[in-house]
This record gives sequence, structure tokens and C-alpha cells, in this order.
Amino acid sequence: PKCDIGVIGLGNMGRNLVLNLADKGFTVGVYNRTTEKTDEFMSHEAGGRSIQAGRTLREFVDLLEPPRSVLLIVSAGKAVDAVIDELTPLLGESDLIIDGGNSHFSDTDWRAAKVEKLDLGYLGMGISGGEEGARHGPSLMPGGHKQAYDRVHYILEKAAAQVDGEPCVTFLGSGSAGHYVKMVHNGIEYAFMEMIAETYDLLHRGAGLGPEQLAPIYRGWSQGELGSYLLEITARIFEVKDPQSDHFLVDMILDQAKQKGTGKWTSQDAMELQEPTPTIDGAVSMRNLSVHGQLRQQLEERLGRSEPVQIEPERLSSLLESALYTGLILTFSQGMALLAGASRKYEYGLKLEEVCRIWRGGCIIRAKLLERLRLAYQDRPDLPCLLLDHELGEQVRSGAPALREVVSLAAASGIPAPGLMASLAYLDAMRSEHLPTNLVQAQRDFFGGHTFERVDREGVFHHQWQQSRGSV
Ligand code: 6PG
Repeated sequence: PKCDIGVIGLGNMGRNLVLNLADKGFTVGVYNRTTEKTDEFMSHEAGGRSIQAGRTLREFVDLLEPPRSVLLIVSAGKAVDAVIDELTPLLGESDLIIDGGNSHFSDTDWRAAKVEKLDLGYLGMGISGGEEGARHGPSLMPGGHKQAYDRVHYILEKAAAQVDGEPCVTFLGSGSAGHYVKMVHNGIEYAFMEMIAETYDLLHRGAGLGPEQLAPIYRGWSQGELGSYLLEITARIFEVKDPQSDHFLVDMILDQAKQKGTGKWTSQDAMELQEPTPTIDGAVSMRNLSVHGQLRQQLEERLGRSEPVQIEPERLSSLLESALYTGLILTFSQGMALLAGASRKYEYGLKLEEVCRIWRGGCIIRAKLLERLRLAYQDRPDLPCLLLDHELGEQVRSGAPALREVVSLAAASGIPAPGLMASLAYLDAMRSEHLPTNLVQAQRDFFGGHTFERVDREGVFHHQWQQSRGSV
């Protein structure tokens, strides 16, 4: 029989997804540009499964049942265009291409237009969950035309992670909605990782706790309201010994974080849309700062190092748990508001409840909190800010003192905590009826005649500031 779906790209993600699809009862055609990779896969993991390989793209296309569905799992960027250009002449009317990579959403928009002109279907689909997710059930974030989704939904629903009997996939919206949602997922991922790293810095550098003491703390958090994939793996990381020395592996890893760019894209587009995402921005900046290792070393010598945190480690850890949870709600508040703004601007038609629902399982930011967020949007689909939800607002209100104390402790001991600090500042600013931005506006009007609005009258005003010096 011909294959239900074809997958191009047999890197780690691609191979795992193929195995996942085959396990779920589908026949899968595969193709990889380097044939050795295909042969290797076919003679090992694929053996005995409903997987067929094409050595050429033509052979691959012929393996698939028309109308064909082809899932691309290739690196974002030029490789996607190269595959599409080679593939489209071989496809027939109504065949469908799904880009499952981390493509920039704006690329997805023009690629979809280009492919659809050829009477082919196109979906841009974010896939989250890393290699393990791909193998056993990722969170899938597809966007494009609903008819295209309807053709493959039964396959995607089976491949995706399941939570409470529901698949972590849904049709998210039009155009590049899927890749946009995945991008913001990654922005939140950066922010959550950064804030976890800050709690680690305070406990480790600040309070002197080593990995063996940290592991149970993070395990404990991951079993409470902070229950999440990222905390589970953090606890596990602290348990691992370096095979090449007698240290813990985490202590042997260079403190410089790399990035492929999706977090940066989130901040970039948030700036473009004028949606505030300070925690995500701070997380991106910290990765950028971290790579200046030598310079940091020099500056520590010149300017002095951090001081120990002045607090009992047990009390610190309980404050951090609460601060991190509060910071996480505040981060989601920023990310979801960005999604709402993007949905208006790009006309995606996103349903935020559905976004939260499909993030509950499979993906890197999966966390208990997401069910709470889902309920908030179920109650009020057009909720303008998560902090307006009664229960989440109360949680933030009761967690804020811990967040405030943690930020003070960090500032006092000279340990950088830009993620937690930005979350707190976001909270304090968002709940300020009055901000000092009247002064910014006055300055703009002073030096550039940029005008201002008034608190007591409608209209647009300008003042001759230079001439009124000293006058009351
Ligand atoms: C996921 C991850 C995945 C990948 C990122 C890492 O959801 O499965 O986000 O997409 O791990 O590309 O991003 P950086 O390399 O930018 O940290």
C-alpha cells in the first residue's frame, strides 16, 4: 500500500517523528538528502516497521498516496526553500506540504503564498518537545488553511501528546499562526529557563548549595504547583556525575548559553507590535551577555564579585519557589498578551484557550499552570490580561511579596536576576495607575515638539518649554 504521509529530513527530530507515526499505525515514506542517512535508518530503527524509503525525491513522492502529505523536518532557513523548490515540480494538485521546522513566521507567510499559487496546500507547523517529544508525542502547532489541516488532522492527532484524552494539537489559525505560536512558546521557554537559572544562582553561588543539595529542592518544586517539564529536567541535571571527572556534570559545563534565535524573534516582534515582554527580553539579553566569558572574568577582578545571600538556605528555597511561580504567571501574562496582539495584527484568529490546552503536554514549557491558564480563557476568551483573572490575580497578589524579597536579596548580594526582576517590574508597572511616562512625554515635547495629551482635556497639545523656564 502507498504511504499515509511522507517525511523529509532524517535528523534526530525527523527520525523520531517517523517512528512515532509508524507506531501509531501509519505507513510513512521517508527521504533524506544524504542517502547514507536513509540507508542507516532503514537498516536499523526502521526495520520491521511500516516505513518505506525513497532514494530520490521522485521515488519518495511515488511512495505516497495522493493527495499526498509531505512533512518537512529540515533546519529552518535556506534548506526549507531548497527542498520546496525541488519538491513542488514533482507534486500534483492538492498535495500538501507541512513545514515542521522552527521557521520564522514571516517566511511561512510568503512560502505559503508561493506554494499555494501552484495549487498545492501549505501548513506551517511548530513542533515542540525535543527528541523525546517527537518520539512519544509532541505538542503540534499548525496554522494555514483549515481545509489543509482537515486533510491531516487524524494523523497529527494520533502523533501528538495526549492530555486528559485530548491531543495536544489543534488548528490554530490562518497564515503563519502555527509558527508564531511556536515562536512565542520558545520566548516563554527562554524566560522560564532564565528564571530557573537565577534561582540556581541564588542557591548555589549565593547560599553555597551544591548539586546534591539542589536536586531534591528542584524535585520538590516540580512536585508542587510549579510542576513542569523544565523543573523535572533541572532536578535530573543536578544528579548527573561527569563521566570524565569526579565532579557533577553541571559544574563542568561552560556558562555560555547559545541560541538558534527563536527567543530573539519573540522579543523582536514584540517590539514591533509594541507589546511588553520584559522577562523574555531579559532572558535573551542574558544569553547574549553570557558569551562574554573573558570580559566577565576581567570585570569580576576589577569591580568585585557578588556577596553571599544573607538568609537561611531553607527559607531562601521556599521564597524562591513562590517567586518563581509568580514570575512564571507574569511571563505567561506577557506571552499570551503578545499572542493576542499578534492575532489582531496578523488576523490569525487565535483562540488562547486552545493554545494553553495544546501546551499542557508534549512541549518544553508544559506545566501544571497551563490548565489554570486554559480555564481563565475558557471563562473569558477575550481576557485582555491574565492578571485580571480572579484566581491568577490572587495567586500573583499572594506570591508578590516573595518575589519582591527574592529580588531585594539578589540586588543586595549582587547576583543578577534580570528575569525575576523584570517580572516584578512588569507587575508593578502594570498595576500602576500612574507611571512617570508623563515626564518622558514632556521631554519629547520639550526637545522635539512631539506634543502630549492632557489628563483634564481632550486634544493634542504642545508647549513652548524654552520660553517658560522658571515661570510658575
Ligand atoms: C522545543 C524547543 C526546540 C529547540 C529550540 C532551542 O520546543 O522543542 O524549543 O524548538 O530546542 O530550537 O532553541 P535555542 O537553540 O534557541 O535555545
